[in-house]
Amino acid sequence: MTIPRTETEKEYLIRAIDALDREMIVISPDHRILATNRYTIEKRGKNIVGDVCYDVFHERRSPCDDCPARRVLHDGKPVLKDSYRSLQESEQRVSCYPIYSEGVITALLMVDFDLPRLGKLEEELRRSNAFLKNMINSAVDGVIAADRRGKIFIFNQSAAEVSGYSIDEALDRLYIQNIYPDRGAWDIMKKLRSDEYGGRGKLKEYHVDVLGKQGERIPISLYASIIYEEGREVGSIGFFHDLRTRIRLKKELESAQIQLLQNEKMASLGKLAAGVAHQLNNPLGGIMLYSRLIQEEYALSEPAVADLNRILRDAERCRDIVKELLVFARQTRHEKQLLDVNKAISRTLFLLEKQVLFQNIIIETRLSMNIPMVLGDIQQLSHVFMNIILNAAQAMEGRGKLTISSMLSEDAQKVVITISDTGPGIPEDVLPHVFEPFYTTKEEGQGTGLGLSLAYGIVESHHGKILAGNNPDSGSVFVIELPINP
Ligand SMILES: Nc1ncnc2c1ncn2[C@@H]1O[C@H](COP(=O)(O)OP(=O)(O)OP(=O)(O)O)[C@@H](O)[C@H]1O
Ligand SMILES: [Mg+2]
Repeated sequence: MTIPRTETEKEYLIRAIDALDREMIVISPDHRILATNRYTIEKRGKNIVGDVCYDVFHERRSPCDDCPARRVLHDGKPVLKDSYRSLQESEQRVSCYPIYSEGVITALLMVDFDLPRLGKLEEELRRSNAFLKNMINSAVDGVIAADRRGKIFIFNQSAAEVSGYSIDEALDRLYIQNIYPDRGAWDIMKKLRSDEYGGRGKLKEYHVDVLGKQGERIPISLYASIIYEEGREVGSIGFFHDLRTRIRLKKELESAQIQLLQNEKMASLGKLAAGVAHQLNNPLGGIMLYSRLIQEEYALSEPAVADLNRILRDAERCRDIVKELLVFARQTRHEKQLLDVNKAISRTLFLLEKQVLFQNIIIETRLSMNIPMVLGDIQQLSHVFMNIILNAAQAMEGRGKLTISSMLSEDAQKVVITISDTGPGIPEDVLPHVFEPFYTTKEEGQGTGLGLSLAYGIVESHHGKILAGNNPDSGSVFVIELPINP
């Protein structure tokens, strides 16, 4: 197509070409220079029209082997940014365009790209690419980008650490469909395309699981967006972080809060119990004193003596309970000394073993010889072990296995005593209450529900910890931790 142009227009076109600061020549199909622009003349120091390009530019006697003009003549299409080497110039980039006259290429336009400038651009591009790559790789968050089919093309170091896949593995063969389990990727894309989760094409703080290389599910918080190019969806990119630490900390905090509440509850129950115990102490003393006086001062009939004995026995029982309550509330004073925990355990077992209840119970002790002495009250600690062991024997109804171990904690700061039985274990609904005073599941007259609350109070006064739980197979387990340096 010939474009009609005025003389002025033609004049401007020539001036425009002369304004260009790069070499530009028009050659005939046999490489003769037909026209050039001002810049070429100035650079070459002479007008080169009529010469052949391979001579002017490459000081050759014949056209260059890889001359772009050849390809243009052959294909009929421009060859852009073609590069070729000649003997004199190590590298040159030329764009070559065909000039048609009535459907035939009668001339070719050759434009030399300004190499240094292009080199700088390339260098800048390369550097900013490297910078971006570095930035993505060193991001604290995991970064994963995928094309429209889900094929992953960006997978940074954090993503590798969270998922367990190496970067190469992921780039080589992973699709986002492999990363999110149970149609998770599909669900994410659906949400991304809707308006409801942070705007169209965006998804904010979405909690979802990632499937690790070993098949494990890793909870993450995801920020994702669709990548658009000229309005078309070409891929997606997601930034995420591992929620495992946060979830673990939350759980630990919750259990610490429960423990705190439990401590508070025990403390106030303790005060209440101590108050009641104090008030009961005097009238109990009175009952026992006057019962004895009656026994001694009056000549009573047999049945009356038996009744009085009964009154005395029950009153004594009440006094014992009151005593235990006061211990629980730490109202009684005890002397603490350095003691051998293993000895306290052995002493307790020695006392209990001979009782009928223990005749059909196998007792296994695994006492570590490497535990240091603990500052405490041996009477009180024996009482703790005794209450737990008695409960175990009662739970097993006199038949089963009792295992008692002592060892040094991993951090070497505590002595850990574990007492487990093969009984029915502690039901879920009972477990949170076992340390409460007067909590018992035993029949009336069988238990006061003070044994474990007493143990709790004693261990607390030793700045230790007592925990109750169940064995995975069967039976209950009690763990007592006593600090070495309270
Ligand atoms: N080894 C165990 N196996 C199963 N349940 C247990 C075990 N130890 C304690 N329990 C439960 O904890 C409850 C409270 O125990 P705790 O020793 O405080 O009171 P008790 O044994 O009922 O009464 P007491 O010890 O005052 O005679 C028990 O009634 C029982 O339900
Ligand atoms: Mg008990």
